[in-house]
Amino acid sequence: MSDPQSHRGERALRFLLVDDDAVDRLAVRRALQQSSLPIEITEAADLEAARAALTEGSFDCLIVDYLIPGSDGQQVIELASSLGSTAPAIVLTGHGDEMLASELMKRGAADYLPKNQVANGQLVRSVVQALRAHELRRREREAREVLQKHAERLHAMVECSERIHAAGGVEQMVAAIAVEALRLFEARAVTVEVEARGDLPAITRVATAVEAGAPVPETPDDIVQALRDSSGQRVGRMVLQGGVFLDALAGSALLGKFARMAVVALENGALLRAATAASQSRDEVLAVVSHDLRSPLGTVSMGAAMLRRSITAPGGRYADDLEVINRISRSCKRMERLIEDLLDASRLDSGAVLVTPRATPAAELVQEALDAATLEAAAGKVTVTAHEVAPLRVMADRDRVLQVFSNLVGNALKFTPAGGAISLGVERVGDLARFTVADTGAGIPPEHLPKLFDRFWKGERSGRHSAGLGLYIARGIVLAHGGQIAAESEPGRGTVFSFTLPLSP
Ligand SMILES: Nc1ncnc2c1ncn2[C@@H]1O[C@H](COP(=O)(O)OP(=O)(O)OP(=O)(O)O)[C@@H](O)[C@H]1O
Ligand SMILES: [Mg+2]
Repeated sequence: MSDPQSHRGERALRFLLVDDDAVDRLAVRRALQQSSLPIEITEAADLEAARAALTEGSFDCLIVDYLIPGSDGQQVIELASSLGSTAPAIVLTGHGDEMLASELMKRGAADYLPKNQVANGQLVRSVVQALRAHELRRREREAREVLQKHAERLHAMVECSERIHAAGGVEQMVAAIAVEALRLFEARAVTVEVEARGDLPAITRVATAVEAGAPVPETPDDIVQALRDSSGQRVGRMVLQGGVFLDALAGSALLGKFARMAVVALENGALLRAATAASQSRDEVLAVVSHDLRSPLGTVSMGAAMLRRSITAPGGRYADDLEVINRISRSCKRMERLIEDLLDASRLDSGAVLVTPRATPAAELVQEALDAATLEAAAGKVTVTAHEVAPLRVMADRDRVLQVFSNLVGNALKFTPAGGAISLGVERVGDLARFTVADTGAGIPPEHLPKLFDRFWKGERSGRHSAGLGLYIARGIVLAHGGQIAAESEPGRGTVFSFTLPLSP
């Protein structure tokens, strides 16, 4: 119920009038009717009639004669309160009952009024005052309840935050945000969308949590809350549906805080994963270095020991010595290559500029790659040829592009058995030159294709001297030129690697 002053046009104020004297009741009725308040009066002549009325309906105000047969005003007030009524009660007293009346006020009456003042407008003033005080008390109670709820939710939010942080991966975190929002805001369904962003992993995910049954269709009443990062940039949104959003004020402030907390949790998760990945990649590098450098180093030190023995022995056998020296130099090359690759990979990771492209004839690059490949292929009985070589000029860092070729051709040689063929070529595709290295080797199963260019990824058959860095580096070099690299393969028939470079202007 609102302020009695602004009550016009709304529903009538309901009075319960308890008085055994019909003439007095009439006087009260008249006094009330003289006011501008819209009123409805129920009359009761005794306690029992009052009980019946209070049981049946609810009232905004009680007007109670202190003296009713077999009872008193105090009992009526107690009865009303025991039946759940919070309406203010005004007690009408006889002349000279003032001591008693003030005692009544202490026990819950809103006001008292000698009966002889009913007619002179005092009753209406008293009613208005009592209703106003009642309304103020109600609002205060309501505000306190809102505050209480707000505090409870703030407390709940701290716990939500802990659970969201503990969820782990982005996907699980987004799902946890939906579940926690569902609970906290008493919604029927919550949808959380996170857009791809630089510092957050590139994801677009939708997580819906529905209490029971089918998803709730979107309606204009849904609450849409933007998710923003600390700089105010939008990172997604959250839609709450069918909720009991009782206190819009406290609710919306909390929703904003919840959204901030959710984004902070997602950002923390991203940072944590990046830190974990960085330390994991350091561990991987250490593992590769210690494992893959140890074995060629073993060869070198063993060979050196053999040479020392052979040189110091009388009449040493030179042919054997030559073989030991060759082994040593092969091992050294392998170690050099691995160290170079590890350094290249780490330069790529840190984003250090890797290439200085200059206008270069594409045919020269293909020819140099071909010469190097022919040299390597000689022992393996694999033919290496150039098919199409278009007369193009490309923007290329010569040494780096030859390194790409060397990695691709090296793989082709490794995975192509004797009798196979490798062919190189370059053609024009739009504004780009497209280089290809094709082989007739083992091919690559389709499920491996997405992982091919990952750092340290290698197939089961790649051999113990492989680090799984060749394609990762090749990709980094091509990307640094502004090109693309790709693989197409048919298991059993062969593989075609291709990469593009921009044409020189
Ligand atoms: N031409 C190819 N034919 C078949 N499989 C290939 C071919 N090229 C690459 N692969 C597969 O891709 C994996 C990754 O190649 P990558 O060059 O990155 O590593 P690697 O050759 O194993 O080691 P590294 O190049 O560091 O010595 C290989 O282990 C192999 O399984
Ligand atoms: Mg390789």
